[in-house]
Amino acid sequence: MLYSSLALALAVATAAVATAPHSDAKLTLSSIASTPNARRTRIAASSASPTSSDDVKLLDYFDGTDLQWYGQISLGTPPQNFTVVFDTGSFSLEVPGIACGAACAKQRQFDPSKSSTFQDQFENSTVTFGTGVGVDPVVGDNWEMDLASVADALVVGGLSIPFGGFFLITNQTPTFLPDPFDGIMGMSPDMGDFFTSAGVPAIFGMSFTPKGVKGGGAGELTLGGVDTTKFKGPLLYSPTPDGAWTLRSQGIIVNGKTTSTLNNTDPSLFIFDSGTSNMLFVEETALAIYAMISPDIVANPDEPGTFGIACSRISTLPAVISIHSELSSGPFKNKPELCQTLINVSDGFNLVGLSLLKHYYSAFDISGKRIGFAPNGF
Ligand SMILES: *[C@@H]1O[C@H](CO)[C@@H](O)[C@H](O)[C@H]1NC(C)=O
Ligand SMILES: *[C@@H]1O[C@H](CO)[C@@H](O)[C@H](O)[C@H]1NC(C)=O
Ligand SMILES: *[C@@H]1O[C@H](CO)[C@@H](O)[C@H](O)[C@H]1NC(C)=O
Ligand SMILES: *[C@@H]1O[C@H](CO)[C@@H](O)[C@H](O)[C@H]1NC(C)=O
Repeated sequence: MLYSSLALALAVATAAVATAPHSDAKLTLSSIASTPNARRTRIAASSASPTSSDDVKLLDYFDGTDLQWYGQISLGTPPQNFTVVFDTGSFSLEVPGIACGAACAKQRQFDPSKSSTFQDQFENSTVTFGTGVGVDPVVGDNWEMDLASVADALVVGGLSIPFGGFFLITNQTPTFLPDPFDGIMGMSPDMGDFFTSAGVPAIFGMSFTPKGVKGGGAGELTLGGVDTTKFKGPLLYSPTPDGAWTLRSQGIIVNGKTTSTLNNTDPSLFIFDSGTSNMLFVEETALAIYAMISPDIVANPDEPGTFGIACSRISTLPAVISIHSELSSGPFKNKPELCQTLINVSDGFNLVGLSLLKHYYSAFDISGKRIGFAPNGF
């Protein structure tokens, strides 16, 4: 998630939606009333690319926890391939350029001199991300990229944009180095132009199928529609009140129960961020949720804002085994006896990442200004 999109969300904060998981998760998502299922068709790829699909296959970064997914795009003429995280919490496309050199050593780097359609926009900037991809802490500006503004041909899942703006990473903090993907493609509602240029409706669907289930191990991003084979029942839509992928809270239910703290006493917005692994809640909410899960979950003073449980106590969490990977992201580096739990305390905002999103099929409807959820089809 980008700090700047966060600021946008908070500036107009009025209230919020839904959160929470289902059967094998600890939280329960309760949706506010909404128009059921307005669009259930999967829209075919544009006629310009009749042989390709509008789907992007997504690969699972953290096998076992399924907390981050990425897929392939291509840029330039002839096409140069890159893998990117499709991030609903940010709004622009960034891939490494050859100018990044050693700082992007493990990633593919776009070479402008090898593209006949490349255009430099002669503008540099810097972005700072508010959350990282994994569960490593964000400390100040330790997730930062230097960028050059450029434009070129862009292909995502069979949709072609002859000429679109994006950014080449010219330098980045070492926090990005271990990533198995090259860049990030922002999927915020601001990317409506992408769909217009590609000639398809401004909506996309995301499915994250864990390896453990039949047909699992591959997620899917559908552009221009939703893939009705990937979910059961109607999509339940809720309006996004503020121009970002946020929803209004209807309260949080933990293991079928709620408390006065969690039952919407302080309405706020929840950001739905496919670029973040874990969840961040304001302190009061995080503490109330943890209190309902286990008194053994404690704050980790070494990393303010984080919580953990003695690794030896993980098996005592009142849940089946799939929850353990759900709730714990493994030992802290500097405190191996403490296993980090996935809800973190944030500075005034509520954000749910893949640890929640992966339990649902999600539809992000830009023109309809709403987000829809349906049970996964597996
Ligand atoms: C880019 O990816 C496509 C699809 O996987 C593949 O067919 C093509 O060979 C790749 N191109 C390069 C230059 O690696
Ligand atoms: C952008 O930064 C690069 C170094 O990464 C530099 O060579 C270039 O001159 C800068 N361009 C502008 C317009 O500042
Ligand atoms: C948790 O939140 C705190 C406070 O915002 C932050 O300092 C810390 O880096 C976060 N940790 C993770 C794992 O997100
Ligand atoms: C939550 O609050 C709503 C309205 O304020 C109330 O109707 C409902 O009974 C509460 N639920 C619980 C479980 O306390």
